[in-house]
Amino acid sequence: MVTSVLPRVESLASSGIQSIPKEYIRPQEELTSIGNVFEEEKKEEGPQVPTIDLTEIESEDKEVRERCRQELKKAAMEWGVMHLVNHGISEELMDRVRKVGQKFFELPVEEKEKYANDQSSGNVQGYGSKLANNASGQLEWEDYFFHLIFPEDKRDLSIWPKIPSEYTEVTSEYARQLRGLASKILSALSICLGLEEGRLEKEVGGVEELLLQLKINYYPKCPQPELALGVEAHTDISALTFILHNMVPGLQLFYQGKWVTAKCVPNSIIMHIGDTIEILSNGKFKSILHRGLVNKEKVRISWAVFCEPPKDKIILKPLPETVSETEPPLFPPRTFAQHIEHKLFRKTQDNMSN
Ligand code: OGA
Ligand code: NI
Repeated sequence: MVTSVLPRVESLASSGIQSIPKEYIRPQEELTSIGNVFEEEKKEEGPQVPTIDLTEIESEDKEVRERCRQELKKAAMEWGVMHLVNHGISEELMDRVRKVGQKFFELPVEEKEKYANDQSSGNVQGYGSKLANNASGQLEWEDYFFHLIFPEDKRDLSIWPKIPSEYTEVTSEYARQLRGLASKILSALSICLGLEEGRLEKEVGGVEELLLQLKINYYPKCPQPELALGVEAHTDISALTFILHNMVPGLQLFYQGKWVTAKCVPNSIIMHIGDTIEILSNGKFKSILHRGLVNKEKVRISWAVFCEPPKDKIILKPLPETVSETEPPLFPPRTFAQHIEHKLFRKTQDNMSN
């Protein structure tokens, strides 16, 4: 069995250190923008992440339905991220998802190590922490559990947490319901682009090929939260991402040149438009830059579900309907795998020129 030589961030956090290892300290330029997340969350001035009420998204009344879609469209075009409310997934199910994930993370690190992934052999599913991917050795203040949850025939249930025993049942039910929500959103976004209702869903792989991957992000308390990030600034590569969290603030969005802290909205699911939909829509829908702060007082946990197209089967490029003489294609054709490769390459270039 392969065990990691890296300490888990959780072990580091519980060791009683007062200052964090240098690998977790952000570069000087970035430190100036990192504040106390509880103070940041309280701020009422300035732009705020929109909240979209989905109650009427499938209303019988055409006008009512259209009004709801327009709200979604505006949020997707201006922000590319929003709090979804009345999304149809029950509070009870969301609570159970949070409970089983939290229970798993409450196990001793040695227990969780039994599920450790092995990134060097390409085995990304399981329990893990970020490996440094460049010379600076920069790390993030989080551990995670990552696994594919939909379609059901592509799951590897043997690597799913066995404790708590309800984990599989609860997570499977959440996956099924989220898949339904993803379809509803993709339909609405298609119509917003003047496409046929089923078009975006088909373009990202349809029922058979669109993959839902769950990443439970576990952000331990950090003794020097103003020096670290839980997750560094990035855009999601997915088509859509759906996020639940344990009501501890942390997520920040880079909007109009400033970091905006997402408020904790009860019973909401945060939804991101990812790079995939940004590309297909020729930039009409935005994939927003975001990051996660950590804090001294409370463990933060988030459940991010990435809805992704298959790696090699589909070539992603602006749909012809989104391109015109005045709106030339903003993205070259790439498979999802090539898109990931391109982002990594760009990042390596950035690091070399620093
Ligand atoms: C991610 C992410 C933010 C959060 O996992 O891609 O952006 O709130 N997470 O944990
Ligand atoms: Ni993200």
